[in-house]
Amino acid sequence: MILVTGGLGYIGSHTVVELVENKYDVVIIDNLSNSKIETLDKLKTITGKDIKFYQDDVCNKDALRKIFKENKIDSVIHFAGYKAVGESVSKPLKYYRNNIDSTLALLEVMEEFNCHTIIFSSSATVYGKPKSLPIYEDFPLSTTNPYGTTKLFIENILHDLYISDNNWNITILRYFNPIGAHKSGLIGEDPKDIPNNLMPYIVKVATNELPILSIFGDDYDTPDGTGVRDYIHVVDLAKGHVLTLNNKKTGVKIYNLGTGKGTSVMELVTTFEKVNKIPVKRQISPRRPGDIDACFASCDKAMKELGFKAEKDIEEMCRDAYNFVKNNLD
Ligand code: WQD
Repeated sequence: MILVTGGLGYIGSHTVVELVENKYDVVIIDNLSNSKIETLDKLKTITGKDIKFYQDDVCNKDALRKIFKENKIDSVIHFAGYKAVGESVSKPLKYYRNNIDSTLALLEVMEEFNCHTIIFSSSATVYGKPKSLPIYEDFPLSTTNPYGTTKLFIENILHDLYISDNNWNITILRYFNPIGAHKSGLIGEDPKDIPNNLMPYIVKVATNELPILSIFGDDYDTPDGTGVRDYIHVVDLAKGHVLTLNNKKTGVKIYNLGTGKGTSVMELVTTFEKVNKIPVKRQISPRRPGDIDACFASCDKAMKELGFKAEKDIEEMCRDAYNFVKNNLD
């Protein structure tokens, strides 16, 4: 059985779909701080399965013990955590307390129940400003915001844990920029307040929930001057997690999950307009502090060791992102 922490969230819910469709038994723990209980029913509609759910906080060790007592957990996929870069700068203690404590509680309870397989949701943000492109897993690590630093701290905790006990089978997945939604339009990225990230902002402008998109800088060292990122369809990202479960070797394994291609802000906006036949009002604004010019992954290692290859292109990401919001407009 697979315990998925944060399993009703954006990436967690898409991963639960892929797990169930690959015949895994899944248990979800989620405190609904950045997700909705309605997602559970949508997961049942998509998969046809009732998925066991515990509405609890991963920081609560007794709640975790209850789950491990009631279910034979073989592996854990750990998504639960706060993830807004901007908020982490203004509220660092909230981020360090929640993201680190929840992970420590989880690892301690896993040890108590002799469960030593964990997949950790990390982020390309741990690379900071890369020295060259594409980015490889052995590149130097540095972070520029508390959110990214919690990811780096947790990666270090996991390395130290393995050194102390070689029974651990640890996989660290560094996500690039996940966007898009399940083709059903039932689940997708559904931020509660004004989005920090580009695609959810584009979608809210397209649906007139927000007046205009600010493009943060057009003077970067990129082909069209706007920021370049490696956008990966959230379903491709989810499939990468399932492939990881086949890897039974102990140790600490680290993989980039991206497409290996860079797309600029302007390219994403114009592609979104083209495939969805809808305008996105925008303006050029000053750069956002902390942003880097360009970032995209080398996915050679994930391809070689996991057989991972992202299949969906930018057009499909734009179509699916918009389809989800159209289906869920209040
Ligand atoms: C993408 C590009 C912006 C918003 C962050 C986190 C990372 C991960 C993904 C959690 C940049 C530009 C954005 C807008 C814009 N999150 N932009 N106008 O910053 O690459 O990565 O989100 O794991 O950890 O660091 O993603 O979507 O915020 O920005 O012009 O309103 O879009 O400048 O070039 P980012 P993003």
